[in-house]
Amino acid sequence: MSAPKTYLNAVSAVPGATPVHVAVIMDGNGRWARARNFPVMAGHRAGAEAVRRCVRGAINHGVRYLTLYAFSSENWRRTPQEVGDLTTLLRFYLRHKVAELHREGVRLVVIGDVGRFESSLRDEISRAEKLTARNTRLTMVLALSYGARADITRAARLMAEAAIRGDLDITQANENDLARFLQTHQFPDPDLVVRTSGERRLSNFLLWESAYAELAFLDVLWPDFNEEHFAALMADFERRERRFGGRVEHRTVAP
Ligand code: IPE
Ligand code: IPE
Ligand code: MG
Repeated sequence: MSAPKTYLNAVSAVPGATPVHVAVIMDGNGRWARARNFPVMAGHRAGAEAVRRCVRGAINHGVRYLTLYAFSSENWRRTPQEVGDLTTLLRFYLRHKVAELHREGVRLVVIGDVGRFESSLRDEISRAEKLTARNTRLTMVLALSYGARADITRAARLMAEAAIRGDLDITQANENDLARFLQTHQFPDPDLVVRTSGERRLSNFLLWESAYAELAFLDVLWPDFNEEHFAALMADFERRERRFGGRVEHRTVAP
């Protein structure tokens, strides 16, 4: 007699699946640099190298969307020196590394309040987005000057404007009506949100979209992140049982 079968009767629980969308809070560049008596900028530069390893991991595991939190709306509070260094690094990355992403079949999309950046960086962003727009292997979403609360507030404002124009009955507005004004509406919600550096907080990242995301916190500083860490995250995700508020019944039935 063959072994009894176990099945899950919740529609949405898919154990053993690869996450479609992985979102990463890339934290720990400053501590990595400090531990080596390097300037903070060296940590950010090493962090940019870790991005390549993360993208490689995502492609190898068949992940379709990778959102990377590179600069938060609150990071403008850092010294002008650090903000300036970070924007210089971003400009360099976009100018010189996007060709490699393009060769790999990666589509780059930027979310966040990019209007706050100087025009030369905005130009690099547009150029990189246009160059890679038709790629389909992996969509890499770079969150720059991004804050979830700011994006939700903007969406509420746009929804109100639609109502004033008569395009929407505000008394009937539902979650989807708001969500379609979020900058992230073109992507599926993240299945897995990862934060490196040992901190266990979201720091204003994808607050709406992560409602049912699995969370993973790694005691690794972002510049040390590598493909083995990515593989371990995938293996850990596979073991998780997602319920989305439903009841997952493990029933044993006769074959
Ligand atoms: C993350 O590294 C990168 C950015 C926020 C831009 P940090 O610079 O926050 O590194 P720690 O947290 O100080 O170690
Ligand atoms: C979150 O890290 C933002 C990014 C990784 C880009 P922070 O280092 O800015 O977060 P807090 O200030 O420690 O919460
Ligand atoms: Mg930090």
